[in-house]
Amino acid sequence: MKPINIALIGLGTVGCGVYQTLHIHRQRLEKLVGSPINISTIIIENPDKHQKISAKTNITTDVNTVLNNPEIDVVFEAIVGKEPAFSLLKRCIQAKKHVITSNKEMFAIHGEELKRLATQYNVQIGYDATTAGGIPIIQTIQQLLKANQIQYVQAILNGTTNFILSAMREKNITFSTALDEAQNWGYAEADPENDIEGFDAYYKLMILSDLIFEKQPDLKYVKRIGIRDITEDSLQGLQTEGKRVKHIAKIGYDATGNLTASVEPEAVSKEHPLYAVEGVNNAIHIKGDIVGDLTFAGPGAGSFPTASAMIEDFCILFKKEQAAIAGAPV
Ligand SMILES: NC(=O)c1ccc[n+]([C@@H]2O[C@H](COP(=O)([O-])OP(=O)(O)OC[C@H]3O[C@@H](n4cnc5c(N)ncnc54)[C@H](OP(=O)(O)O)[C@@H]3O)[C@@H](O)[C@H]2O)c1
Repeated sequence: MKPINIALIGLGTVGCGVYQTLHIHRQRLEKLVGSPINISTIIIENPDKHQKISAKTNITTDVNTVLNNPEIDVVFEAIVGKEPAFSLLKRCIQAKKHVITSNKEMFAIHGEELKRLATQYNVQIGYDATTAGGIPIIQTIQQLLKANQIQYVQAILNGTTNFILSAMREKNITFSTALDEAQNWGYAEADPENDIEGFDAYYKLMILSDLIFEKQPDLKYVKRIGIRDITEDSLQGLQTEGKRVKHIAKIGYDATGNLTASVEPEAVSKEHPLYAVEGVNNAIHIKGDIVGDLTFAGPGAGSFPTASAMIEDFCILFKKEQAAIAGAPV
């Protein structure tokens, strides 16, 4: 039986999670997708860092080995930043390969173009890992909430800021001590600006916006405030009133019909759906016009939670392919 041939672009935190998951759970995954799975090629930047990869896998810096190999069916992309990721994925789609990405910064800006291109070339694009890590929010909205019109979303989309705010309140420590702790635990990047100033949450919010509202808000209707100026004293004071501060990303239509979005700290009380979300966890609260309020919570980042979202995309994609081959409805 012909295997599903996979290429991986990036073998860092997320790429390693995908690589290991495909090995550890191979038997179960092969049963699910109905074919043998083969990791054919891995593209990285610094070959010297990756000596332990199986000799059966071609590990290289040359993306043409993927583009020129018609046997490769699907490309998992897990590198950082808009470029070269966008150009690489465009070329993969044009070479008629399915793609699965975890790259939120790239996808927030170029996602719509990649989706159009994927339709044009009759391939699939999976991007559940771009938003809220292991929480399967994209597939849930795409597959399971088709009849509902989602009216608004409010969410904690960045685990680093949620960890910092939780630690400052619980331990009565300063912002910079909590940031050091986050970095020591490996939750925050060496340059944590993207998280702390709310850019990371904003990228994920824009991906949700494209999916739910089929557009992104005009920049004049977007507010973004970071958490750097929050003090431990203000968190203690709010705690005595029964409140916690959360860095909340929101999107929805306002009373005048404009699509508005914000990422900013907000003091919430016990009744709020995001009050109990602590530490590095993420959560997404949505209001559907039929179902009402729904909240999804779980690990928003990390090697295996993010790999989990990519592997779920992979299984959905190839189960659909098998069904199409067998003539069953997809
Ligand atoms: N980390 C998380 O928890 C998480 C969660 C959700 C989404 N994401 C997203 O997932 C993506 C990957 O994150 P990460 O944390 O895994 O990053 P990472 O640990 O820094 O790994 C990046 C990988 O990309 C490779 N790379 C960089 N530039 C490349 C290029 N031009 N061509 C080929 N390979 C290249 C690097 O190669 P070398 O190893 O050879 O240097 C490395 O293996 C990012 O877009 C991130 O925003 C991450």
